[in-house]
Amino acid sequence: MLYPAAAEETWERLNTVIDHAVAARPACLQARDLMREAEPDWFQRPDMVGYVAYADRLAGTLRKVGDHLDYLAELGVTYLHLMPLLRSREGENDGGYAVASYDEVEPRLGTMADLAALAAQLHERDMNLCIDLVLNHTAAEHPWAVAARAGHPTYRRFYFFFPDRTLPDRYEQTLREVFPTFAPGNFTWLEDAQQWAWTTFNEFQWDLDWSNPDVFVAMAEVMLNLANQGVDAVRLDAVPFMWKREGTDCENLPEVHELLRALRALMAIAAPATIFKAEAIVPPDQLTPYLGSGDPEHHECELAYHNQLMVLLWSSLATGEAQMMTNSLRRVAAIPSHASWVTYVRCHDDIGWAITDEAAASMGWNGFDHRNFLNRFYSGEFPTSFARGEVFQFNPETGDGRISGSAASLCGIELALADNDPTHLDIACRRLELVYAVAYAFGGIPLLYMGDELGLRNDHTYLADPAHRDDNRWMHRPVMDWSVAERRRTPGTIEARLFEMFAGLARDRAKCEALHGAGRVELPGSADPHVLSLVRRHPHRGSFAMIANFGAATVAVSIASLGLERARLVRSGGASVDADTMVLPPLAYAWLSAE
Ligand code: GLC
Ligand code: GLC
Repeated sequence: MLYPAAAEETWERLNTVIDHAVAARPACLQARDLMREAEPDWFQRPDMVGYVAYADRLAGTLRKVGDHLDYLAELGVTYLHLMPLLRSREGENDGGYAVASYDEVEPRLGTMADLAALAAQLHERDMNLCIDLVLNHTAAEHPWAVAARAGHPTYRRFYFFFPDRTLPDRYEQTLREVFPTFAPGNFTWLEDAQQWAWTTFNEFQWDLDWSNPDVFVAMAEVMLNLANQGVDAVRLDAVPFMWKREGTDCENLPEVHELLRALRALMAIAAPATIFKAEAIVPPDQLTPYLGSGDPEHHECELAYHNQLMVLLWSSLATGEAQMMTNSLRRVAAIPSHASWVTYVRCHDDIGWAITDEAAASMGWNGFDHRNFLNRFYSGEFPTSFARGEVFQFNPETGDGRISGSAASLCGIELALADNDPTHLDIACRRLELVYAVAYAFGGIPLLYMGDELGLRNDHTYLADPAHRDDNRWMHRPVMDWSVAERRRTPGTIEARLFEMFAGLARDRAKCEALHGAGRVELPGSADPHVLSLVRRHPHRGSFAMIANFGAATVAVSIASLGLERARLVRSGGASVDADTMVLPPLAYAWLSAE
C-alpha cells in the first residue's frame, strides 16, 4: 500500500476526483470509451503508425496542426504524439518538460479548447492523439513550487527539501547524473528558501514527492482532465524517477510500479479510452515491468519505448553486424499480450548507449570501448564514419557520453550531400530505410520522428537561442520547412524518395496481419552474423519475417531456414528472390508474410 497512514481518506478524495471527471466527460468520449472497451487491442493493429512532433515546430499552433492532417495521412499516420504542450516556464524549459501549469496549454500554441478540437479532428480521421504528462517534476515556477518556496507547509510537502547537505550527500552516493554537463548533481540550493531542492534533471525542474498522497490526488486530477480533452495516450515522462529511497539509485523502485498501477486503475474507471505510454530509458530487465504482467491487477502501461532496439540499430549500422542485436534482443523478456512496444529510430532526446558490458562481451568486446567507439563514430570522429552527430553530456568522471543528431545526419545523408556524392547518398538513404524498416516491422507502434520522412539534417540555429544553446539535443529538433516538404512531389528529389519510402513502409505494414502487437517476436539467428532475422508469430493472424543485411557484402539466405510455410514477399527492400533463396545486397532487407 502506498499511503498506509492515509489510505481511506485518499481513496475518498480520489472518488470525488473520479466523480467530477466522469460528470465532465463529453458524450463523444464516453462513446469512445465503449468503443475501446469493445476493441481493447486498437493500439496494436498493424495499421498503427505514429508521428512525433513539436506542435510549434510542425505548424506553429495547435489549430494549424489541424491543417496538416492530410500530410500525416499520406504517411499512413494514425497516432500523433505532440511534444509537451502545457504551459511551461519562460526561457529555458527543457523543451516544455518544465511545466508551469497543467491546466493550461502553452499560450503560444493555443488553448485547452484548441487541444480538444484537435483531438476531435483527429478522431474523425481515425487518428489518435498522444501528449506528454510530466509526473516526476514541475517547473520551479509552478504555483505549487512557488508556494513551497514561500514556505507554505502544504506545498513544501509536494517536493523534497533539505536544510543542509547531510541527506543530499547520502543520496548522491548512489544516484546517477542525468545531465552532468549543464545540471551536475541532483540537488539545487535555493538561496531565498535556504533549502536544497531535489532536481534530478535541470535546476528549474523540481522533483515531486509522490510519497505524499496530496501529490497523487493533484496529479490524478490533472491526468483525468487531460483525458477529458480527448487524449488517447499519455506519454508518462521520466517515470523511473518517481520514488526515492536512500541507498538505491532512486530509479524503478517497486513503488513506482504501484503508483502507475494505481493511476492506470483510475484511468480505467474514469476514461477507459486513454492508454499509458511509459518513457523509461532503463535496461531491459527494468523496462519490461512497466508493461505490467498478464494478471489484470498488474496492468500498468500499455506501451513503452523500446530503447534497446533503437540503440542496437545504431550500433549495428556502425559495426555492420547484427549479431549483438540478436543476442541482446533475445534477452529481452516477453511482454504481456495486451501490451506493446513503441519502436523508434530517433526522438527528441539524445541516444544513450545502453549496451551492457555483458552484451558487448557476448561479441568478445569491451563494453566501455564499444560505447566509446559509438560516440566517436556518431560524432564523426572515427576515421571511416559517415555520421555527423555531436556528443551530448560527456561525463569526464565516468567517460560516458551520448549522441545528438538527426537520423539523416547520423545515417550519412548530411555528409553525402555536402560531398555531392550521389552514390553515397543512395547508400545513406538505404541505411535510413533499413533501420526504420526494422522499427516498422518489430511489432507495436512504430514512431516516425518529424523530419525524418524528408531527411532533414542537423539544425544548428539553436546555438543562437540563449534558452537552447547549451543543449545540443536542439540540433535534431528542427522546424518543419513546408517548402522542403513540397518537394516530396518532385520526382528525383531526396524528399520524394524518402517520403515515398515511409508511406510505403506504412502501407505494407498495414497489410501484414501478423504484425499485430500481440504477436511474439522470435530471433532465430542467422548463419551470417551480418544478417538480422526476425520472426513474429501471432496465434491466429499468421507469421511474419524480416531479413536484413547490415553488412557490406551480398548474402543469400534460404527462405526455408525461416520456418515460414508458404511465405510471400510483402516488401523487398532491395532484396530479390530466386526460387527458395533470397539475395540481399548490402543494406537490403525483405519482409515476408505467411497467413
Ligand atoms: C524525459 C524527456 C527529456 C527530458 C526529461 C526531463 O526523459 O524525454 O527530454 O529532458 O524527461 O523531463
Ligand atoms: C536519460 C534519462 C531519460 C531522459 C534522458 C534525457 O536518459 O534516463 O529519462 O530522457 O536522459 O536526455
